[in-house]
Amino acid sequence: MRLDRFLSNLPRFSRKDVRFALIAGRVNVDGQTITNPHHDVREFSCVMFDDEVLQAGKASRYFMLHKPPGCVSATVDPQHTTVLDLLDEPDKHELHIAGRLDFNTSGLMLITNDGQWSRRLTQPASKLPKVYYVETEQEIGAHYVKKFADGFYFAFENLTTQPAELIVLDNHRARLSIVEGRYHQVKRMFGHFDNKVLSLHRESIGSLALDPALEPGQYRPLNAAEILLI
Ligand code: URA
Repeated sequence: MRLDRFLSNLPRFSRKDVRFALIAGRVNVDGQTITNPHHDVREFSCVMFDDEVLQAGKASRYFMLHKPPGCVSATVDPQHTTVLDLLDEPDKHELHIAGRLDFNTSGLMLITNDGQWSRRLTQPASKLPKVYYVETEQEIGAHYVKKFADGFYFAFENLTTQPAELIVLDNHRARLSIVEGRYHQVKRMFGHFDNKVLSLHRESIGSLALDPALEPGQYRPLNAAEILLI
């Protein structure tokens, strides 16, 4: 929300008060005097008027989890363990998953309470590469590479997938980089060749790779540099 709107929503300030307070340098956001009425105020921002705290600002939280297979990418599920069940954190209801994985897919999963950050990760426009290690039932032909680069037509969404980079590791194993996250995207791409995906593991999202120290089911907070990678 814009800073001037945030302030004028408070019963004590009229619009005129807000203008004067900003010009006089009496408003401070996250430790800096802000005079720009358009400055973005988030739920995580600490907003002060002189020495008075108007909003303390919630702590933003970011985690990477090594999702094991056999676990649901949801916050609640009546039957199965969910990704959030694996986290021993307070106020879990405030957290959400940024970029789901299928029940049997393993690998890097990001969890946060910062919706703006997770949107960057999931919006197709951001074109953030997601790298998967794939094992298949049938042989992976050399002709697959061009088809992945050209794109697959997905009738349900009426779209052609963005160019994807397939690196064939051997007859049944490949590394695939895609910039979208369509429903069952990797399985549908290999499905085009009637080739079933037997094992799928997400290794990285953008420049953020799964920490090799994390065993399946383990997680840790992201550090400040990692948060900036997304
Ligand atoms: N593509 C899939 O088919 N499944 C996943 O879990 C992720 C990408």
